[in-house]
Amino acid sequence: MSNFPADLEAYLAATAERRLARFVDFLRIPSISGIPEHALDCRRAAALLAGHLEAAGLDHVEVAETGGHPIVYADWLEVAGAPTVLLYGHYDVQPVDPLDEWEATPFEPVVRDGRILARGASDDKSNISIAIAAAEALLATRGALPVNLKLVFEGEEESSSVHLDPWLEANAGRLAADVALVADGGFFEGNLPAITVGLRGICAAEIHVRGPVQDVHSGQHGGAIDNPINALATIIAALKGPDGRIRIPGFYDDVVALTEADRADFAALPFDEERYRAGLDVPALAGETGWTTLERRGARPTFDVNGIWGGFAGEGSKTIIPGRAHAKVTCRLVADQDPDRIFGLLRDHVLAIAPPGVRVEVVSLGGGRPLLAPKDHLATRAFARALEETFGQAPLFVREGGSIPVAASFASIVGLPVTVMGFMPPDGNFHAPNEWMDLANFEGGIRALVRFFEIYAAPGA
Ligand code: BES
Ligand code: MN
Ligand code: MN
Repeated sequence: MSNFPADLEAYLAATAERRLARFVDFLRIPSISGIPEHALDCRRAAALLAGHLEAAGLDHVEVAETGGHPIVYADWLEVAGAPTVLLYGHYDVQPVDPLDEWEATPFEPVVRDGRILARGASDDKSNISIAIAAAEALLATRGALPVNLKLVFEGEEESSSVHLDPWLEANAGRLAADVALVADGGFFEGNLPAITVGLRGICAAEIHVRGPVQDVHSGQHGGAIDNPINALATIIAALKGPDGRIRIPGFYDDVVALTEADRADFAALPFDEERYRAGLDVPALAGETGWTTLERRGARPTFDVNGIWGGFAGEGSKTIIPGRAHAKVTCRLVADQDPDRIFGLLRDHVLAIAPPGVRVEVVSLGGGRPLLAPKDHLATRAFARALEETFGQAPLFVREGGSIPVAASFASIVGLPVTVMGFMPPDGNFHAPNEWMDLANFEGGIRALVRFFEIYAAPGA
């Protein structure tokens, strides 16, 4: 472990309180991108970030309109000849329900036992705050960064980033860089430092099933017509076999096979399966046969129902055949599955197997492509060294089961190599009640990012 520069450490120690206060101010804003009533909060979060970026000494701070929630851009481009790093994060967060399962109020952050509890504390307000703090520490103590830096913070990641790709296309020129650091990832199980080399893609859809003209008496009509909820259950049940394989023709066509070396990498990860099971409080882990848990999570696609509704769900009983049934579903995809192609296959198959007594519609809710990134890129290696020097442990290279659609866009639209990184604790309850951030990861993250900038600027040093 090399020593962290004393001037920077002194600055970081002296400004710890203000840094936490700024993080808390950021966390207090309910920037839930998926709920229209929070659109103004998303703007407030963008404006607050712009203020933090100005205070940190970054240039060209801009709140850019996209047609949706704005993108916050800033840069610092004053070191000729040095590489340019584009760092991405998202300031929007997921909804907070079920509220009654929170130990604190989601947007009134509480610090307790080295953790800060709030919606967005880890995903992804931590990584954004870490990046700004790292830049600020360097600019305040040295008056310069070792690299050129472009920061892009979006406000629609948690609601499918609909306005981001067009913005990237329109701004591809000014986003030119040597690497895109996608700062929306975290550590591996056990809070071990990690670099994410794989992300799953996603294909989201709604299935709408229509039966009789409205809810009707189940005695009068039961046995004479199809029940939309039964029909929906039949359709959903037919989409996966008992072996866990998805039964949509053509679904697996583009899945890149795992090599023996890939499988050895998965097997080498220090994964405590029993602890993982117990942490989720399920009686058993389950999934497609023939693959390990980590392989199923990182390198195999899924079909899951996210929500299902229709009919009567109140207290007591009500004897109806419902007029309608609905489900929200998502497939997690792996390289090289294409979300648009998968949506077409899903829709065609659902329509093909629908019982004749109902009318079925399948509507796309968007998608994102998977990512498989090389481990030996210069920036990834520099980040690995920075993590090891900071946390005293070489990082693991992992394929994450979650999705960050923009990661593939940075590669395909802006033409950048991508390194996915971040400091979220793996059990940080992202998208769930009681989301939290580990404050040691937060402080370590700032130091790791400072080191990354220095190592990446001078890899030989
Ligand atoms: N930061 C997550 C992705 C992630 C999850 C990275 C777990 C590392 C570990 C990201 O904010 C996210 O939640 N993405 C969504 C994308 C979707 C809304 C299109 C996801 O994976 O559900
Ligand atoms: Mn995220
Ligand atoms: Mn998320």
